[in-house]
Amino acid sequence: MVYCTGEKWEGIGLRVRSLELHNFRNYSELALAPDPGLNVLEGANAAGKTNVLEAVFLCALGRSHRTARDAELLREHEPFGSVALELETRGGSRSIRIELIEGERKRVLIDGAVTSRSGELMGCLNVVMFSPEDLALVKEGPAERRRFLDMELSQLKPSYYYNLQQYNGALKSRNLLLKETPIRYDMIELWDEQLARLGSRIMVERARFVSDLSGTAAALHAKMSGGKESLRVAYEPSVPFADEDRLMETLQEQLTDRLERDIFRGFTSVGPHRDDLGLHLNGHDVRVFGSQGQQRTVALSLKLSEIELIRRIRGERPVLLLDDVFSELDAARQARLLEVVSDCQAFVTCTHLEEFAAIEQLAMQVWHVENGRIAEV
Ligand SMILES: Nc1ncnc2c1ncn2[C@@H]1O[C@H](COP(=O)(O)OP(=O)(O)O)[C@@H](O)[C@H]1O
Ligand SMILES: [Mg+2]
Repeated sequence: MVYCTGEKWEGIGLRVRSLELHNFRNYSELALAPDPGLNVLEGANAAGKTNVLEAVFLCALGRSHRTARDAELLREHEPFGSVALELETRGGSRSIRIELIEGERKRVLIDGAVTSRSGELMGCLNVVMFSPEDLALVKEGPAERRRFLDMELSQLKPSYYYNLQQYNGALKSRNLLLKETPIRYDMIELWDEQLARLGSRIMVERARFVSDLSGTAAALHAKMSGGKESLRVAYEPSVPFADEDRLMETLQEQLTDRLERDIFRGFTSVGPHRDDLGLHLNGHDVRVFGSQGQQRTVALSLKLSEIELIRRIRGERPVLLLDDVFSELDAARQARLLEVVSDCQAFVTCTHLEEFAAIEQLAMQVWHVENGRIAEV
């Protein structure tokens, strides 16, 4: 069932030409040459569909989207595994390889060369993942929304990722010092300088990103709700600021002001690790008051906006990973999603092909997934 022909290769941005798995999750060996357009992975529960998306995501962000423990990725009872991708980008072809070794840190290779910093991977392969857990982005606490901001910004700007890594390291050090006795004020002061310097950069980037995101998300949401709902996305920084140039000092002052309280509570109470993203529908906080349907549509609007932003900022269309999202959408939202998907390479999972309302009109390559094996349909 291959409707897709060669001409679809033209005008498509980034694409995965081949994917090879070795002892990854429930795959012992897999070699896949995906279609440059829409790839549908169809199969029963626990067949290994999400694992394929996870492998692509791993090559994009250097980590899994569903676990922080790399050991889980290695096929059970195997000491060594790998994921290898051949990519076609605007600037030519490129290969990414992740090696998983039992009891060791994973190795990342770009074009055959081992990278020492995981940040080097950022921006090589931009992906946008849609999954049922996206609902958490709207419904759960601020940590989920910060994760969303961090993931997007890291892909768009590798320098953001480095700042964030350093910031998190500094934060950890300060939090440890807060719990020590006697308190070493001179040491804390040193970390405060670092936190203010790195933290202000992170917050400025977030503010700019959200201001870009808000217009796009509002337009997409209006379209999806048939003009009935207006979405407002706003950055809610832990320290409100109007003047970017003064933010570093403001942050530093706040850290100093709150020091005694932070010592008492044992953690740092101000900085980008306390930011949030405000989401309002027709003036109401959708994080708290939204219905399940509204929250789902807002999550979808945010995700679709990501695609737009990556296109605009990187000048390249991202690879889309859609995990079990179609079954939960009505026909109108499916159509909207497919419209966006249609000019990117996409990997879409489902348990039944009938989940697609518009199945007859779709050009796609269907792959049947069963027990860690994939066959062309
Ligand atoms: N490290 C691992 N080694 C072997 N099998 C694994 C590993 N991790 C997950 N699995 C298996 O992978 C399957 C789940 O794959 P997944 O891609 O999530 O399924 P689905 O098709 O429902 O998306 C389960 O059968 C699970 O036991
Ligand atoms: Mg799954």
